[in-house]
Amino acid sequence: HVYPVLLCGGSGTRLWPLSRKSYPKQFVPLVGQQTLFQDTAARLTGQGAGLAFQRPVVLTNADFRFIVTAQLSALQIDPMAVMIEPFGRNTAPSVLAAALYLDKVDPDALVLVAPADHVLPDTAAFHAAVAEGAKAAEQGRLVTFGITPDRPETGYGYLQLAQRPDGSGAALPLARFVEKPDLARAKVLLGQGDCLWNAGIFLFKPRDMIAAFAAHAPDLVDPVRAAVDQARPDLGLLRLDPGAWGQLRDISVDHAVMEKADNLSVVPYDGVWSDLGGWESVWREMGPDADGVALGGNATAIDCADTLLRSEAEGLQIVGIGLKNIVAIAMPDAVLVADMSRAQDVKRVVDILREKG
Ligand code: GDD
Ligand code: MG
Repeated sequence: HVYPVLLCGGSGTRLWPLSRKSYPKQFVPLVGQQTLFQDTAARLTGQGAGLAFQRPVVLTNADFRFIVTAQLSALQIDPMAVMIEPFGRNTAPSVLAAALYLDKVDPDALVLVAPADHVLPDTAAFHAAVAEGAKAAEQGRLVTFGITPDRPETGYGYLQLAQRPDGSGAALPLARFVEKPDLARAKVLLGQGDCLWNAGIFLFKPRDMIAAFAAHAPDLVDPVRAAVDQARPDLGLLRLDPGAWGQLRDISVDHAVMEKADNLSVVPYDGVWSDLGGWESVWREMGPDADGVALGGNATAIDCADTLLRSEAEGLQIVGIGLKNIVAIAMPDAVLVADMSRAQDVKRVVDILREKG
């Protein structure tokens, strides 16, 4: 039995101005009709590769509670629990809260933590990878999923294999987990040829994850346990206790546990996978034409190359002429124009605008 845990409390600032504080990227249809959050929930429903997916546990923050319930009910998915974090403390507390909760529901559960900001179109191949991972998770391993890297990306974690892949698709032991290296380190890791990108998806038994936290981030265990034990049911939601949650530091599961644990395995995944982390990856996923032009909404390009033009405002036209390497996004109340190579810096805009109030 696999219990999906959907993490969707992030703010997705690198996709400003489409992704907003009150409506971040995972809840917006970025490519295709459904949102990435809906795609994630749908991918982990029903059965596949001999696995039975249970109703999902969702962790998000209070601002997104109605978006979450509306987007799930549109797919007729009835979550087992929607846990509301009083404020974001990053993914480590969320993963631990899910593990503690599910340990009580089913001590033999296999927990599949899935971020809600991924493109992962080949569901059957992904289910087969999860089934491989399940064998290792049953043995007490913390299982990650590894993607073959094609550039020294600094926005991902790197999984260094302890042995060469044998082509069987089975889970392999990991020598090391390196979360978001700087560019120099990423180039070294890529050059070594024995690293995969961390897809950000984790599979484990609750007690193994709880033990990993107890060993590597023990200060989180009591507050998260208290927040779960004292959670308040409210209109179908489970509100984690704010007093206990307030004691937590902000840390990702990658830094808190994965970089330190010595019982990691990785299932190599060679299907299509992408974290829509920035505009450049959205442009790639939208399927640019032969000139590299991708258009969204009411957009026209004349003599442009390697450019993304997107209008997200009803009745608002966007036209580009003679552009190269440009991303331009028009919203009703904000327009972004940036060099494609600098699109990751959009994050900085959000900080600047926040300071301005
Ligand atoms: N509930 C909840 N609460 N969810 C959160 C929070 C939080 O405080 N913070 C982030 N999330 C959600 C995001 O919405 C996203 O779905 C997921 O957790 C992962 O967070 P990101 O912030 O997108 O992480 P990342 O992309 O920078 O890095 C992770 O994913 C990469 C692959 O996409 C790491 O695991 C990397 O190692 C990995 O390569
Ligand atoms: Mg991400």
